[in-house]
Amino acid sequence: MNKPLKQHLIDPEICIRCYTCEMTCPVEAITHDDNNVVVDAEKCDFCMDCIPVCPTGSIDEWRVVETPYSLDEQFEWQELPAQADIGESSGVEALDDAMAALLAEAHAGAGGKSKAPASAAKPSVNLYNLGKPATARVTGNFRLTSGESGSDVRHIILDFGAQPFPVLEGQSIGIIPPGTDKDGKAHLPRLYSVSSPRDGERPNFNNLSLTVKREEQGLCSNYVCDLKIGDEIKVTGPFGATFLMPEDPSARLLMVCTGTGSAPFRAFTMRRQRSKAGGSGDLTMFFGARTPDSLPYFGPLGKVPEKLLKKHLVFSRQPGQPKEYVQHRMMAEQDAVADLLADPRTHIYICGLRGMEQGVEEAFRSISESTGQAWEATRDAMRDEGRYHVETY
Ligand code: A2P
Repeated sequence: MNKPLKQHLIDPEICIRCYTCEMTCPVEAITHDDNNVVVDAEKCDFCMDCIPVCPTGSIDEWRVVETPYSLDEQFEWQELPAQADIGESSGVEALDDAMAALLAEAHAGAGGKSKAPASAAKPSVNLYNLGKPATARVTGNFRLTSGESGSDVRHIILDFGAQPFPVLEGQSIGIIPPGTDKDGKAHLPRLYSVSSPRDGERPNFNNLSLTVKREEQGLCSNYVCDLKIGDEIKVTGPFGATFLMPEDPSARLLMVCTGTGSAPFRAFTMRRQRSKAGGSGDLTMFFGARTPDSLPYFGPLGKVPEKLLKKHLVFSRQPGQPKEYVQHRMMAEQDAVADLLADPRTHIYICGLRGMEQGVEEAFRSISESTGQAWEATRDAMRDEGRYHVETY
């Protein structure tokens, strides 16, 4: 009999098919088909390089097995199989503990597998894949930032016609850029967060919006930002099963973002604005950009009543003013942040530049400690309860 082994796996329900792990793995143990991203047990040497780069924690999975799951088996999975009962083997617990320790170390105390809010609606995931993408028609492409700002951020509207394409706020979709790479292979899809609510950019239309920044040399962002009305594009997804909003109308949302990281928060805010339920949960946003004319949706945001959304718009390059980041404003508003941190109804969402994560955590730590709370314990408990969500890139 084989002795039990630990096998590193990816949760196909939570994975958003960004392929970052596959690009990071130094031994090419991670691969994909049209359906799933999977780990080859024969090649994986548990170096853990793929762990911290995964934006969802879908890669924080393993099973103790007697015979490793093959690639073909993993390609077929819609969900991860439960840990099989492999009998009275004394090695299993030790293997489990060893893997948990490796993961904790790889995350260096941060990150980790996120959970959906307890009251979130059940999302549809992976309805369309590389082999069978949906076709969407472009019905809008508006520039959100001024020409002088040097930043070109677009509001893109996609219509799915008769194809079902259900999305929840906080989910992403993939866009497949046309053409092939230098090896003649089709390009992999690039992921974009949906910035409209579940009932459509226009209520009760089968459409959605994206917030896309043109990146210099960006293959897909230039393709998307140059799309014309009527163009047809290939779409995969929807993806993401944890960065979702609670349905509970008394849940309080604290949203921290930079630039296009604001996309899901536009969706959250519109969802709350459109739902008739009412409720006591407030929305607070800390939103950082270089200047007002490079802050996506600056004009429309101004029209959202403070009663619905408490807005802290923070600018780092305003002429004549000191550089300010979101974490600086959180410190300036520490009483309000402390009040949110102390409330079990609060959900925290962080979305945008990877670089801001550390500064934002430092602000949370300092504010927590000023009220006698240990930040790590608070954060880990919130994450466990599906109340702490990070999506940075
Ligand atoms: P800056 O680039 O002026 O230092 P971008 O325009 O590149 O999308 O960035 C959005 C905003 O995030 C900018 O105001 C940028 O400031 C800011 N930013 C850059 N680095 C960090 C960081 N480490 N923490 C918080 N905000 C940051």
